[in-house]
Amino acid sequence: MPISRSLLIAIIVIIVIAVVGGGLAYYYYTQQQKPRKIVIYVIGKGVHPYWDVVAAGVEMAEKEIEQKFGEDIDAEFWTPTKEEAALQFSQVDALIAQKVTGLALAPVDAEAAVTYINKAIQQGIITITFDTDSPGSNRPIYIGTNNYKAGYLGGLAAYVIAKQKGYVQPGGTLKVGIVSATLAAQNARDRVQGFMDAIKRCVEMDPDIRGNIKVEFIGPYEDKGDVSLAVSYALSILQAHPDLHIAFGSNAYEGPAWTQALKQLNYPAGKVVLVQFDVTSDNVPPAWEGYALVTIGQRQYFMGYYAVWLIYNATKLGGIEQAIKQFLPQWPQVKEYDTGVDLVAKERLELTAPTGEKIVIKGLSEYKREMQGLGVDPKLLGLENIP
Ligand code: BGC
Repeated sequence: MPISRSLLIAIIVIIVIAVVGGGLAYYYYTQQQKPRKIVIYVIGKGVHPYWDVVAAGVEMAEKEIEQKFGEDIDAEFWTPTKEEAALQFSQVDALIAQKVTGLALAPVDAEAAVTYINKAIQQGIITITFDTDSPGSNRPIYIGTNNYKAGYLGGLAAYVIAKQKGYVQPGGTLKVGIVSATLAAQNARDRVQGFMDAIKRCVEMDPDIRGNIKVEFIGPYEDKGDVSLAVSYALSILQAHPDLHIAFGSNAYEGPAWTQALKQLNYPAGKVVLVQFDVTSDNVPPAWEGYALVTIGQRQYFMGYYAVWLIYNATKLGGIEQAIKQFLPQWPQVKEYDTGVDLVAKERLELTAPTGEKIVIKGLSEYKREMQGLGVDPKLLGLENIP
């Protein structure tokens, strides 16, 4: 029986649909079976040489993972142009939409970040904090400096050095100027608190003083990440209090801002006991010239490095909990992995605070060698010209 033309066309159409449909189904099936590429984003707070060091740690972890496991992963460092929470959040939203594997966030605003962190976690993205925490969120871990402790150490050192300079006198006044980043950031908030608490504690415990001195805190003035505002706060504090004894900056750019103000007003190096944060190309000159008498060096290289490794391990070990337990056995009782700090100055100095704590301030040269030993390129930290 001859097949009608229309039946033939129908048969052909059915065959074509079956072949194409089957092919597509096979394609989607194999795509689903193929593991998705691991994409990890490490999100900083702003633009500063401090963050270049984090980026180098991220890159190193990516390289090691690729070499060790032959797996092509994508570990990226991204940072907003300004220390503004909204800029970070639009990036987090975009990354949630892209369904990246993992996120490590340094929240500019600890409270505002809660919604974003929880949303990312809810969408199945492994999300942790680093450099600065958001303790109210569901983040399983924070990797970074214990900022209260770091600020406290800085405060102890400032008190002892101020005392050596004769600024701590019974019945006198100790003037402490503080310029900080936004206090919405957990790290700045904790550093300032730690710094102030340490000075108050020294005043109480110092047998030569026994509380008999007035501590005048000038600030904290929040420059909100604006370097020129940091300089103008430092200038106005010094102009209003030419006899300032101690100066503190909570973030990396404030040590150089204080130094600029001190130079502009012709203060000799070392007259004011300046305590700054971070060893970077911007912060080494104030330390080397003797303006910053104490520099609190963070280990931000390892923050970026561990963040990537931890998220990668979570994908291999069946979840972030398993990966953290290997990294931090005290978890979940402890949800912070302290990367530690080093106190650094031009020359090595060992002090004992009235609280009984011993403080070691490493010389810049010694610190350079130590960092080199840990695999951190001194140039990254601005230490290349230190002998
Ligand atoms: C802080 C960072 C900050 C940077 C520059 C560092 O001390 O840890 O959170 O972004 O300073 O402000």
